[in-house]
Amino acid sequence: MSKAKERLRRLIWLCPPLMTALAVWIFMLLGFTVWAAVLMALLLVCPAIILYGMIKMSRHRVGFSPETLHTQGMPLDILAPVYDRYCPLIGLGRAFRQATLRYAELKPGESVLDVGCGTGVLTRLAALAVGQTGYAIGIDPAAKMIGVAKKNALKEGSRAEFRLAVIEDLPFEDNRFDCVLSSAMLHHLPPEVKIKGLSEVHRVLKPGGRLVLVDVDRPTVFLWWVLLWPLLFWSFTEDQVKGRLGELMQCAGFSRAEKAGSWGGFLGFWKAFK
Ligand SMILES: C[S@@+](CC[C@H](N)C(=O)[O-])C[C@H]1O[C@@H](n2cnc3c(N)ncnc32)[C@H](O)[C@@H]1O
Repeated sequence: MSKAKERLRRLIWLCPPLMTALAVWIFMLLGFTVWAAVLMALLLVCPAIILYGMIKMSRHRVGFSPETLHTQGMPLDILAPVYDRYCPLIGLGRAFRQATLRYAELKPGESVLDVGCGTGVLTRLAALAVGQTGYAIGIDPAAKMIGVAKKNALKEGSRAEFRLAVIEDLPFEDNRFDCVLSSAMLHHLPPEVKIKGLSEVHRVLKPGGRLVLVDVDRPTVFLWWVLLWPLLFWSFTEDQVKGRLGELMQCAGFSRAEKAGSWGGFLGFWKAFK
């Protein structure tokens, strides 16, 4: 890369404040008061910046560890060191995990797979729920996530296991699990990989087994439309924001898929049965 290009690249962080300032100025010209203009600018610029960051991350292996598995999805190595502290701040803390487990209705002795387990918070809770006679394993392509998950499990004395793998090629035999959990991971996949991944989940579930999935869904609160509208223009999230999660699961072979609840106005809990 030429020196001038490299210098320009280093100035990229100036874009968000400059874009916000420009939007404030335009809104003030349109007659908004300063505070209203700042609010409007943030509502417009923040989602655009989030979308830009997500697209960038999905195209380039940002912060990837060399052991991270190849996938067309978006592994999250970059967040591994801060993920457990970051989740509760955005409303994905203990209450969210408990709600997910309530929908899963895990019983002692059951076998559970957590796809895209991240740091393994949910996998460890699932391991507790299925007890000594049960089995819980989490998979994720992000080596740094799996590293943190294993360390946390060891620290807590959890029976949960963790393994590097991708949802689109699950390293398990057919009819292996009673329940598969998928928490906040489906929006990390492009559309064709979603169907492939969900078909793999269907394959490894026992007949009558269940998938409990929570992910970005059609917003039920207007404010989320204001903030999340850019997700309509990103292939990873478009079908979900348009409310097509049920269709995706049916395409993957699930006989029955139903929305069981929602979280925070933009995440949907879904249950699907093999
Ligand atoms: C937002 S995190 C969710 C982590 C965890 N399930 C939770 O609820 O906190 C999404 C996870 O999906 C993982 N992921 C990305 N592509 C994947 C793929 N092809 N197969 C499985 N997991 C994937 C990422 O590495 C990341 O850890």
